[in-house]
Amino acid sequence: FFRRNIASKLSNALGQSEETFISSLFAIPVSKKQQSSDFRLSVNSLLQNGSFSSADDTQTQTEALVQRLKPDNVVEEISVGCGVINFKISRTVLAEKILEKIHNDGHLFGVRSELFSSLQKGRTLVEFSSPNIAKKFHAGHLRSTIIGNFIANLKEAVGNDVIRMNYLGDWGMQFGLLGVGFQRFGSLEKLKVNPLQHLFDVYVWVNKEAESNECIWLAAREFFRQLEQGEAQALSLWQHFREISVEEYQRVYKRLGVHFDEYSGESFHQSQAQGVLQQLQQRGLMKTTEKGTGVVDLSSAKNMSFYSTVMRSDGTSLYITRDIAAAIARKEKYAFDEMIYVTDKSQEGHFQQLFGILLAMGHEWTQSCRHVPFGLVQGMKTRQGEVVFLEDVLDEARTRMLRNMKESRTTKELEDPEDTAEKVGISALIVQDFKGPLVSDYKFNWDKVLQAQGDTGVFLQYTHARLCSLMRMHGGDAEAAFDPSLLQELGSIAMLKHLLRYDEVLHRSLQDLQPKHLVNFLMTLCHLIATAHRTLPVKGSPAAQARARLQLFRGACTVLANGMRILGITPVEMM
Ligand code: ARG
Repeated sequence: FFRRNIASKLSNALGQSEETFISSLFAIPVSKKQQSSDFRLSVNSLLQNGSFSSADDTQTQTEALVQRLKPDNVVEEISVGCGVINFKISRTVLAEKILEKIHNDGHLFGVRSELFSSLQKGRTLVEFSSPNIAKKFHAGHLRSTIIGNFIANLKEAVGNDVIRMNYLGDWGMQFGLLGVGFQRFGSLEKLKVNPLQHLFDVYVWVNKEAESNECIWLAAREFFRQLEQGEAQALSLWQHFREISVEEYQRVYKRLGVHFDEYSGESFHQSQAQGVLQQLQQRGLMKTTEKGTGVVDLSSAKNMSFYSTVMRSDGTSLYITRDIAAAIARKEKYAFDEMIYVTDKSQEGHFQQLFGILLAMGHEWTQSCRHVPFGLVQGMKTRQGEVVFLEDVLDEARTRMLRNMKESRTTKELEDPEDTAEKVGISALIVQDFKGPLVSDYKFNWDKVLQAQGDTGVFLQYTHARLCSLMRMHGGDAEAAFDPSLLQELGSIAMLKHLLRYDEVLHRSLQDLQPKHLVNFLMTLCHLIATAHRTLPVKGSPAAQARARLQLFRGACTVLANGMRILGITPVEMM
């Protein structure tokens, strides 16, 4: 609303479309302590979009422009700043419009902003989590899971049609080993009781055994050959492993609030990978080396140069070959407008090669594929030691959180403390992970992660619960009329100005797919709310003022909850 208003003034004065100005207008962060302005437009942007003719006399041009922009009852003041034009919104209108908008839009607040109107909406395929059956579900997979979920949530929030895909590591020689290991060491009984643990144990055992026993290798190769030929017995055992693993994953993902539209996997594409090899050959992109391996040599290509092995000497496919086949198959099946892969940064080279080969094969749509890399987490341990399964991390977070809650004086009597501890613990993991740039590595420390003070997920949850409690206590329904002119204190204005930036922050996250912008925004919001709890009491204030403040807190609570949900956090109402 405010952006529109200012853009329309600019459009009238300069003759360009309103859209030209919408995304160049920035709401001013509260930390700047600038009370005289709410939005600013840089003079540079006017030069860039051709509103100003030359760079010489921008000062004169700016002053002349500001003369022509007439203040009204929405935009009260328009002034020239250093390289910017400042716009100040009427305080009463600011409170009235923001709170009205939050109230009317509910969970759509901010995501329906005019900032997003020029955004191309379409179908986004996000591939994330993608663990390897029978292997460890390490911290990297946890990161991929929560980051991918965040990206999917964000894209969905602004109106994209999102496909969430899990691409399981469910093919390759390790399944030859696993099959043989199971035949010698496995038990269907144990598999039923704790499938992931048992498969992992078998896998560890067989690998160890294979070190000293050549026969295991031979048998494993034979088992995998049978799998590739589709022999019924081997295939049905493999299928069983896959099915029970997926069931287990699903159960644990549910605890995280994550779901997938498709559990695909490398196995889906092993036969298509043969077709890919043929195409590469026909197009002259693949050469066979002396050893008989197939390589794509793009080392002299202009933008991307690499040398990539795509075929083993026995003619079988590799990880990258299956990825090429998978990408093509997905494009055919889902006709996505963009595809995003979320993995740790050690696979950056892999994705460069993947995109390079797809482009060389003539798949122009590869331009809309993107890899989102993230850094390593060091030292994520549970009481059992090194992390092997996702579930262990979630259990550990829950147990520790529950203990902290029991020790805390502020903890309420809860119906289901375990459930609350789980939700709060998970939000702590997520916030810790999302605070910095995703590519950075970080050291994991349970105590730091689960702190109630400082910028943690616990603090976000605590603030949300406190707002909910305020609303429970003072009732007052969301429809209640209030007088916005009573929200003039510094604390109120600061909070309102901050809420004004929500759409910008989402917009930024959408551009670089980094959650830190949203996390920082929510942290600042929580700090402002904490101050407001002290300086803007509801209890004991005159009725009209109490009503207005309650609406302000209600608005803040809605935005906080919306933001948390996009991050993948379920807000708790009591803790
Ligand atoms: N399963 C792989 C791993 O655990 C990740 C898969 C990433 N996705 C892909 N399309 N290659 O490292």
